[in-house]
Amino acid sequence: MRLPLFGEHGFLSSSVGRKQFVAATGLCLILFVVVHLAGNLLLFAGPDVFNAYAHKLASLRPALFVVEAGLLVIFVSHLAVTVLLVVENSKARGKTRYDVQRSQGERSLATRLMPWTGGIILAFVIWHLLDFTFTDPDGPRGVMPNAVHRGLYGVVFNSFLNPLNSLFYIVAMVAVGLHLSHGVQSFVQTFGFSGLAPSPKLKVACQGFGLLVGLVYSCIPIYVMVVNIITFKSGTPGP
Ligand code: HEM
Repeated sequence: MRLPLFGEHGFLSSSVGRKQFVAATGLCLILFVVVHLAGNLLLFAGPDVFNAYAHKLASLRPALFVVEAGLLVIFVSHLAVTVLLVVENSKARGKTRYDVQRSQGERSLATRLMPWTGGIILAFVIWHLLDFTFTDPDGPRGVMPNAVHRGLYGVVFNSFLNPLNSLFYIVAMVAVGLHLSHGVQSFVQTFGFSGLAPSPKLKVACQGFGLLVGLVYSCIPIYVMVVNIITFKSGTPGP
């Protein structure tokens, strides 16, 4: 069976097809980021609720493996086709150097930073998986500062007790927010939804969305550091 994506007449053979592929895979990743954020907010409800959620997710295996494999394929292909587009664009830029230099100033900060925010997200995801996914929640990393074992909640809590690690997370969350704000705009433009033509209002809505996602994610490491100071450090029993 031949995949309709590849080959001479495949979807990815044209630059429009490649742009649409990047936009569609980007949208899947944005949906994951939003759903993942909703799950992570359960951290604020305490260890029992958060761990119950983690156990519920784990109980969905082996079906969850299929979702994870799909996510990996989407992530890697989004990255690979984006790199292809960037290389193509920079080649085209060489030919029309002056036009592009003029348009640089008109591109927003989020747009210009796309390769950088994308790179930070890639490094972050690798670090993040090693930190939270490829670790044993029942091992020593789950032990809280009050010596109580709190499973995955404890792993996340202990990870954010390191200020440098929390700082890296916050920088990565800012990168995620910036990347999303341009990504959503780009998705709408690429698929040219009627009624959602590029407009200042759409731009503000996308920037607001990116800012909100970045801010809410960043609240998690900040919350852990604050809880650590007002409970464990002052001798009060913590979560
Ligand atoms: C403060 C922010 C975040 C926290 C506290 C957090 C927490 C977690 C935890 C606890 C897990 C392990 C889940 C489990 O094994 O049951 C996980 C997995 C994961 N996280 Fe995050 N996360 C954060 C931000 C992000 C962001 C911004 C992304 C994407 C850009 C992301 C991508 C992933 C991925 C891909 C997995 C693996 C999913 C899986 O194996 O099913 N995370 N995260």
